[in-house]
Amino acid sequence: MNPSTPGTEDKAALRQRSIRSFVLRQGRQTEAQKRAFDLYWPRYGLDYRGEPRNLDAVFGRKARRVVEIGFGNGEQLQYAADSEAARDFIGIEVHAPGVGRLLNGLASINAGNVRICQHDAVEVLRNEIADGALDEVRIYFPDPWHKKRHHKRRLIQPEFVALLCDKLKPGGMLHLASDWQDYVEQMWDVCDAESRLRNRAGPRGALPRPAWRRQTHFETRGQKLGHGVWDLLYDRG
Ligand SMILES: C[S@@+](CC[C@H](N)C(=O)[O-])C[C@H]1O[C@@H](n2cnc3c(N)ncnc32)[C@H](O)[C@@H]1O
Repeated sequence: MNPSTPGTEDKAALRQRSIRSFVLRQGRQTEAQKRAFDLYWPRYGLDYRGEPRNLDAVFGRKARRVVEIGFGNGEQLQYAADSEAARDFIGIEVHAPGVGRLLNGLASINAGNVRICQHDAVEVLRNEIADGALDEVRIYFPDPWHKKRHHKRRLIQPEFVALLCDKLKPGGMLHLASDWQDYVEQMWDVCDAESRLRNRAGPRGALPRPAWRRQTHFETRGQKLGHGVWDLLYDRG
């Protein structure tokens, strides 16, 4: 075989990497959001390096560590930073306007317990977070990818959930929320089948929204469309 031709396994890996859970939209960035990057990225941003980070050094303390994946415009993350000040938060989001908005929000409350990665969460988790480094992972209203042919883009897949379990400490927690029933069914299929996770509400169960999660933009939109809301809490055994 020509050494530059990928073998079957390499091809599978390449294909897997190219299926992403997001499509980068340019979006419109306001002047305030652009300014936010200049002013506040040095304080809150973590440039992607692809190697494990020492989180005690990043935050300058030891604390319980929470990752929120796909924070959108960051309203929940800002709320959590303020209301759960004893914890440290890493927010991961690819959409620049949302990142800009959160940077401004964090600066407005002078938050010291949040850092932001603007990069694919799959790669951040895999390459920059050490195994067992996290107390909690929160994924709220991940893109539902409604069409069946797009379901492969959904974030909650067995391999990704296994990766989350590697990164969570035993005793840690995975919190998912969605307003799209078909995706919730998939979350149950995947997470209830992961041997390291236990659904707090029992198999295929959901709980009312807990106090630490405020209602987000996407949730409000879903409710206006008449959708239900499911909060799924999994303990990492
Ligand atoms: C439907 S929005 C929900 C936003 C927010 N959590 C909320 O509840 O309002 C999903 C977000 O996840 C982000 N996202 C999707 N896949 C991602 C990935 N692999 N890494 C980082 N962000 C991702 C998208 O850019 C989008 O902002």
